[in-house]
Amino acid sequence: NQLGLVAVGFSGGQGKPGVESAPLALIEAGLIDQLRDDLGYEIYHDEKVHFYESILPASDPDHRGMKKPRTVSAVTRQLSQQVYDHAKEGRLALTLGGDHSIAIGSISGSAKAIRERLGREIAVIWVDAHADINTPELSPSGNIHGMPMAFLTRLAHEEKEDIFGWLQDDQIVNTRKLVYIGLRDVDRGEKKLLRDNGIKAFSMHDIDRYGIGRVVEMALAHIGNDTPIHLSFDVDALDPQWAPSTGTPVRGGLTLREGDFICECVHETGNLVAMDLVEVNPSLAAPGAAETIRTGCSLVRSALGDTLL
Ligand code: ARG
Ligand code: MN
Ligand code: MN
Ligand code: MN
Repeated sequence: NQLGLVAVGFSGGQGKPGVESAPLALIEAGLIDQLRDDLGYEIYHDEKVHFYESILPASDPDHRGMKKPRTVSAVTRQLSQQVYDHAKEGRLALTLGGDHSIAIGSISGSAKAIRERLGREIAVIWVDAHADINTPELSPSGNIHGMPMAFLTRLAHEEKEDIFGWLQDDQIVNTRKLVYIGLRDVDRGEKKLLRDNGIKAFSMHDIDRYGIGRVVEMALAHIGNDTPIHLSFDVDALDPQWAPSTGTPVRGGLTLREGDFICECVHETGNLVAMDLVEVNPSLAAPGAAETIRTGCSLVRSALGDTLL
């Protein structure tokens, strides 16, 4: 079993510094060793955290209300190639963020590689308190970490090559192959987009009503058996009790076990091709940083096959 790891030290999709230090914190907590020694993966990693200094634009004024659009575009374009390179070799591509804007890179990269390698469309399981599907015009904040799914589905489009215009058709995700779990803080414009486009979403209300077991079952049924899965996990899907150190915490979230359970079920499908773990910010809620990092490690291990027995 081969695993390609990309450590992305990037915070430009939102305003709070610190999230760029998460990959190193996760690695120092022993994540890579656990994946290699306990789960038996052969790990492909260049042994560094990428900060992409050499490709950052000198000047980056707002565009359509987006903050740092050329910076996020340049970084995600490079990341897209890195993830593609792993996934086209048949390696499970693990991206450690970084804020959630980096999913523009990781998902576009895996979508293209899986199309070429298996002739299949990927499904995206997006586990998050937020839908991250604002178009630039709908966004209340201008932060691109609230927009990745809009660009990845083409609900948002930009011609400028240096502002996500590089995204090609083979890097795009079908809205019918997207499913959300854990939503509880969705902006008004996003709710309309989800409704108008018939995008499948399981909120915390659904989890309360049906239980996590049936919700995961329904989510997997929606995307269909035998569909390659990209799991994009925002640690803020968990309740702040389990993941306090994150930029946009929202109360009333998943328990640690519910989060791990989602990951375990995705692993059990045998269809996981890529995973992101994002929005761990060790410099926020300082006393909770170690707990949040442990939570992040647990989620990744669960998705990669750390079954209980
Ligand atoms: N919906 C809000 C926005 O667009 C918050 C997004 C939070 N996203 C995240 N990846 N934590 O700004
Ligand atoms: Mn790397
Ligand atoms: Mn979130
Ligand atoms: Mn998110």
